[in-house]
Amino acid sequence: MTQEPALQIATPLDARTPWTRRHLLDLDELSRDEIETILETTDAMKEIMGREVPRVPALRGRTIVTLFYEASTRTRASFELAGKALGADVINVAAGGSSVEKGESLIDTVRTLEAIGAEVLVMRHPAAGAPYLVARHLSASVVNGGDGQHAHPTQALLDLYTMRAHIGDMRDKRVVIVGDIAHSRVVRSNIWGLAAMGAKVVVCGPPTLLPAGMRHGQQQTEEPLALPHVEVETNIDTALEGADVVMALRLQKERMHGGLIPSIREYATLYQITPERLARAKTGALVMHPGPINEGVEISPEVATSLQSVIEEQVTNGVAVRMAVLYLLARGKA
Ligand code: CP
Repeated sequence: MTQEPALQIATPLDARTPWTRRHLLDLDELSRDEIETILETTDAMKEIMGREVPRVPALRGRTIVTLFYEASTRTRASFELAGKALGADVINVAAGGSSVEKGESLIDTVRTLEAIGAEVLVMRHPAAGAPYLVARHLSASVVNGGDGQHAHPTQALLDLYTMRAHIGDMRDKRVVIVGDIAHSRVVRSNIWGLAAMGAKVVVCGPPTLLPAGMRHGQQQTEEPLALPHVEVETNIDTALEGADVVMALRLQKERMHGGLIPSIREYATLYQITPERLARAKTGALVMHPGPINEGVEISPEVATSLQSVIEEQVTNGVAVRMAVLYLLARGKA
């Protein structure tokens, strides 16, 4: 019989702000210290993932359920792996094939999952706010795995973790996010996280793909979007000048109603991250993308696979970040 490895999670929790939150719904509710706590706990999880047997019994006996009403590869698979690496029981439920198809409501579905033992519910839903509604009805912890075009906190955390691993202190670093800003939950969560860490965020895209209320040349978007300060730029060459990080976003066609761009080809001509455009950023600037990528549209294949690209590293870090989140939320549950 193989011996289970000892639980050695070198968490900074005891030395820093104690973790008291029950849910992770977005980064707007987290302080800089709480974000640091997650990132430092992620360091400990990375160490576990590097072991020959990447498994600890930290959450043995805990039950985690993933409930996805929208497609996912990275988020769902990495939460499953994260839960299993911590010794939890993980159950995956997709709306398709579940009793949702028989008309069961969201609240009845999550109550059913709690009744069978879910202590942490990781959910993705096309409606903004769905995880907030669920959190009000359950004793279980709720993790937002993406709600409509509102928020995707664990994506932003893994993005921050990856930036911090390469750049260190993010204060005053220029992070340029290019693409379909209007429909991106990733950009909103990143704006909150990056603002908390002191970075300068620039969002860039055609005017039709900027949220209502964001206008070219604005330095501040507190009203009516209630977001922290960002610089808004429609000219990609200007936006990329001096960037420390360049993040490309895909066109979220599933959330577009009506023709917001003349054609994919024209969009690619004007906004694709190409080697020539990337040359305007700082030497060695990080290239990032939350995925899934449409190569040849928002990013050229050369840039996506260049030495500056940390896109695969983002995906790998996603497991450790989600281990940290699950551990912090679930370890205290009896
Ligand atoms: N970035 C992201 O959320 O990817 P998935 O849709 O594959 O989970």
